[in-house]
Amino acid sequence: MPELPETILDPAIIANPGPTLDLLLEHAPVFRDEVMGAWIITRYDDVKSIFADDRFSRDRRRGQHYIPPAPGSWAEKLDDDATSRSDGEEHRRWRARIAKGFTPRAVARQESQVRDVVAQFGEPLRGRTGVVDLVDVFTNPIPNTVISRISGIPPYPGEEDRFRQIAQDVIRRFITMADEENIRRGERAIDELAEWVGKLADERRQQPAEDLVSDLIHGNPKDPMSDTDIVMLVASLIAAGSETTTLGGTHTLRFLLENPEQLALLREDRSLSRNAVREALRFGFGSIAGGVPRFALEPIEFRGAAIAKGDMVMVSTLGANRDRSVIDDPDRFDITRDTRDLLSFGSGPHYCLGANLAMQEMACMLEEALDFLPEDAQLLSDEIVWETVGLIRRPTTLPVRFA
Ligand code: HEM
Repeated sequence: MPELPETILDPAIIANPGPTLDLLLEHAPVFRDEVMGAWIITRYDDVKSIFADDRFSRDRRRGQHYIPPAPGSWAEKLDDDATSRSDGEEHRRWRARIAKGFTPRAVARQESQVRDVVAQFGEPLRGRTGVVDLVDVFTNPIPNTVISRISGIPPYPGEEDRFRQIAQDVIRRFITMADEENIRRGERAIDELAEWVGKLADERRQQPAEDLVSDLIHGNPKDPMSDTDIVMLVASLIAAGSETTTLGGTHTLRFLLENPEQLALLREDRSLSRNAVREALRFGFGSIAGGVPRFALEPIEFRGAAIAKGDMVMVSTLGANRDRSVIDDPDRFDITRDTRDLLSFGSGPHYCLGANLAMQEMACMLEEALDFLPEDAQLLSDEIVWETVGLIRRPTTLPVRFA
């Protein structure tokens, strides 16, 4: 058997997880990482079964790496909220409440908001020359602005930039294995966000508008929501939906620019755009562990491994998406392959609530990019600036030479 790594926390592995994932897939599908204090699960069928198994909880507070939030902070309330737990009834109730914000009427409104926002950031890029950082001017501002439009935040003009910064920071609280500095930064952002949402909820209670906060306040007469509920819901959406979609959009453009023949294929047939996004999520979204932790609620025997009560189990969607039993030649970036059954948005009771919105946003960004990117646009790969937080390594810039 080839030598297995001691830990996936090795920066070289975080930077290029593919070969290590392949080793684990073949030789150690239930891998014990002693340094991280976690099990790493990579095979497609195993990942899917854990997503559906309620002996594996989503409650982060059960993990040994859990850094408790400052007492009395909004982060503490969020962690105590049902959304972070995997247990059935309360979580189902929470999902049903969020669904009030995604009725067909609201979704139609959101789709047109997405198109408007993407055009707002895309149009100024037509005819641009020189080097443009597409993260700065395109893939980063769009998801945050979309959430801001959809939810109705920020209520006051001129605060969009601050809101975007907060939205970007909120996620730091939730990244597995993030260090204390990032966690505290995330907590402060959540507190600031909560104040903002609370103010808006007050206003929308008096005077409803066409936005998510109004739908949530007025759409549940039998199950009225308090301001605290609304703050927590909106914070969860921002935490789950901003940075993820920025990353998805950035990687989609990156992989296409790195694979010009695939970009040419897409230019010929734009109906492939959703598939191109799904393939980009499969190919390189997130980190080695795919960022989805679970905690064993009881001792569990899994593929012969003895998982103890309280153990952290990292469910690697990135690994599952490379499993040769479901995907041929995983190192080939191929926008024509069938990726519909893959697990980039999770599976089971916690399946991503924003998957449709995210797909629409990313496909819309991609189509807009096809309009503004000149045929000979060139990605300056060596100049991309990367940031690692916990297990996530992300491009914070995407410099592209336009002409
Ligand atoms: C590329 C974009 C995105 C990716 C790859 C993604 C991925 C995921 C994954 C893997 C999960 C499952 C987590 C688990 O099982 O522990 C999840 C859950 C979730 N996502 Fe997304 N997501 C994306 C965008 C969004 C957006 C735009 C929103 C909302 C506006 C959103 C809202 C949520 C929520 C609320 C949950 C928790 C659902 C639950 O616990 O029942 N996501 N997402």
